Amino acid sequence: MTTIDTRSQLAAEIDREIAAHIAERYTDDWELRKLAYHYRREGYVKLSGLVSADLIERVRVETIRLLDAHEKRIDIKLKETGNTPRYMSTLSQAAIAENSELIPAVYESAALKAFLGRLAGDEVLDCPWEGEKYIAIRQHKQGDTHGWHWGDFSFTLIWIIEAPSGEFGGQLQTVPHTVWDKEDPRTTEHLEMLPIRTWPHVTGDTYFLRSDTTLHRTIPLSADRTRIILNTCWASPKDIARAATHETMHAMFD
Ligand SMILES: [Fe+2]
Repeated sequence: MTTIDTRSQLAAEIDREIAAHIAERYTDDWELRKLAYHYRREGYVKLSGLVSADLIERVRVETIRLLDAHEKRIDIKLKETGNTPRYMSTLSQAAIAENSELIPAVYESAALKAFLGRLAGDEVLDCPWEGEKYIAIRQHKQGDTHGWHWGDFSFTLIWIIEAPSGEFGGQLQTVPHTVWDKEDPRTTEHLEMLPIRTWPHVTGDTYFLRSDTTLHRTIPLSADRTRIILNTCWASPKDIARAATHETMHAMFD
């Protein structure tokens, strides 16, 4: 059997597994509507038990294996988001695509995209830019942070592979319904003007973020503790239609 056959077979298995789990897990239409309202109001919703515990564990083991082998340390500030910091180790989409079958299979799951689309009230489509489909991040040193930023594309699902205890930071913070002007981001002015929400997570959580219009960051780690995430990102039909630029992603993952 060729690698391509193995890959497509795994992708089909994963999609079936996700479809079956979602059909069993989300039987209450009102619960779904509440999740959708939360997502649209806050630009964020936590999704506990979105996929099976078994699949979460497989994704966790795979992400750590890939980071251990291929991560790259960065310590930079990005002007497109108002010189906010990125202090972390990153794993690029290319490294994942080359070395993993599982993560691309999860990413491609039609059942997963359809479910997220129900929450978003929009079509969730494969990201037109390969480099942003899936990436992973490990923060582990005191001061590590993914500073305030917006995303180039609409829909992001974050998989919390490992979260430190809340007293050590690492929580997500959000300012929804904002607009990223790359020439004039005005990040500080947004934070001074608008309320900031803080969302704690534990290992095994997933959350769905409206990444293009939600200014967000992680609280810097206050000690040498580990926070690891897998980031999977999809586009809206509007994103596909517009020519997005990717300055911040190039600086972080090329
Ligand atoms: Fe982000």
